[in-house]
Amino acid sequence: MNKSTSQERPMAVDRHTYRITGGVPLRGAVDASGAKNAVTKQLVATLLTDEPCVLHGVPRILEVDIVLGMLAELGTEVTWLGEHSVRVHTPKVTNTALSSMYSGVNRIPILMMGPLLHRSGETVVPLPGGCTIGKRPIDFHLAGLAQMGADIVDNPGSVKVSTTRLSGAHVTLPFPSVGATENLLLAAVRARGTTVISNAAVEPEIVDLILMLQKMGALITIDIDRTLIVTGVAELDGVEHHTVADRIEIASFAAAAVATDGRIEVRGARQDHLITFLNALRHIGGGFKETEHGLEFFRARPLSATDIETGVHPGFMTDWQQPMTVLLTQAAGTSVVHETIYEDRFGYAQQLSQSMGATIELTTQCLGATACRWHRRDFLHTAKITGVTPLKAADLVIPDLRAGFGYVLAALVAEGTSTISGTRYLERGYEQPVAKLAAVGAQIITEPV
Ligand code: EPZ
Repeated sequence: MNKSTSQERPMAVDRHTYRITGGVPLRGAVDASGAKNAVTKQLVATLLTDEPCVLHGVPRILEVDIVLGMLAELGTEVTWLGEHSVRVHTPKVTNTALSSMYSGVNRIPILMMGPLLHRSGETVVPLPGGCTIGKRPIDFHLAGLAQMGADIVDNPGSVKVSTTRLSGAHVTLPFPSVGATENLLLAAVRARGTTVISNAAVEPEIVDLILMLQKMGALITIDIDRTLIVTGVAELDGVEHHTVADRIEIASFAAAAVATDGRIEVRGARQDHLITFLNALRHIGGGFKETEHGLEFFRARPLSATDIETGVHPGFMTDWQQPMTVLLTQAAGTSVVHETIYEDRFGYAQQLSQSMGATIELTTQCLGATACRWHRRDFLHTAKITGVTPLKAADLVIPDLRAGFGYVLAALVAEGTSTISGTRYLERGYEQPVAKLAAVGAQIITEPV
């Protein structure tokens, strides 16, 4: 059961391209949005109860619309209560098979397996997609659910699962996968008996999911050594929950402040979710200051090179890698970024080198502190970035969400006017990126495609 799914189907077309004139220091304040990678899972968690749930701090991004569309197909009533607050209520699951329209769209349908098994005893979910960053199999998800008593049938493009009742099990994940941890949590909270998830991921977004589940009545312990212990309960209640701020968006704006030698306050930014990022930022010459409403980011001294290795929390997030790589083009000396989460997450660097003049060399070697899972496997997963390089404006095509902000940042740094297409990828995960960047002085306009 090693279904792998690397290509994301965008479910949308570009609404516009961006024209960005770079070289302007960004100054001002923006509000952090709620985290895409928390709220989408929390929306799935609402399927665990037949009572209404209210989520606040919900970002108005394409990804949220897609997940709400999926829920509506299953019988969920969706009501927006305000710009960022949504009420979701699934009194009855009216449909247990999510349509193939959602095949290859995102990682969310596979997370619905546990809740739908509890509500209906069976479900068919389409296989997930992801970004063009690696194979992204779902073997850990399926093996864990099978251990908990799910019968799994692989069909082309979808997975059918059924059970009389899920039971607790001791699942040891081969790698602390975010999605597999969430999947098993969502299955375990209403399973019979106790589930232990060893080698679990404990990202802040997962902790936020746990907080929401706990409010719903779930019994979950976060034990030492990445171990989650879940005592199943028969039913869960409705909940009101405020989604955690998006630490990827916050780091993106921090990188923009430092790269353009400006000063940006991100309201709602939390230091405790950014410790590793802030260390890296400080190493290269960036600074931060706590403010009444969040954190302010700026350049503290001329930027210099550093070495970074992405890793599972509390390590340096793989989703911070792209803005940081662009930022390092503006740091003196040669930096190394060793990507250990995904095997193919530097594809975007080619356009930066070829079109914008960045000096980025990719290698298959592990140049970090440790040999990672991609050691001797022929994946270009380490980047050597030499700066300071004045970037040239260019026409860029965004290949995936996080690379998208990297390109926007490169355009903000470059002299001249760049055009960026593929903006649908960026807008899937960043709320109002154009308005927010314009609010801090970026010369960015949209043009219809
Ligand atoms: C989540 O993906 C995020 N996506 C990703 O953000 C993020 O980069 C990633 O976690 C790591 O932090 C969402 O939350 C929707 P994983 P996920 O399972 O859960 C391997 C973004 O731009 N693996 O932790 O899919 C996998 O191939 C996205 O917002 C298996 O081998 O990530 C990868 O190498 C991009 N088998 C590693 O584990 C499995 O069954 C980590 O993946 C599962 C995972």
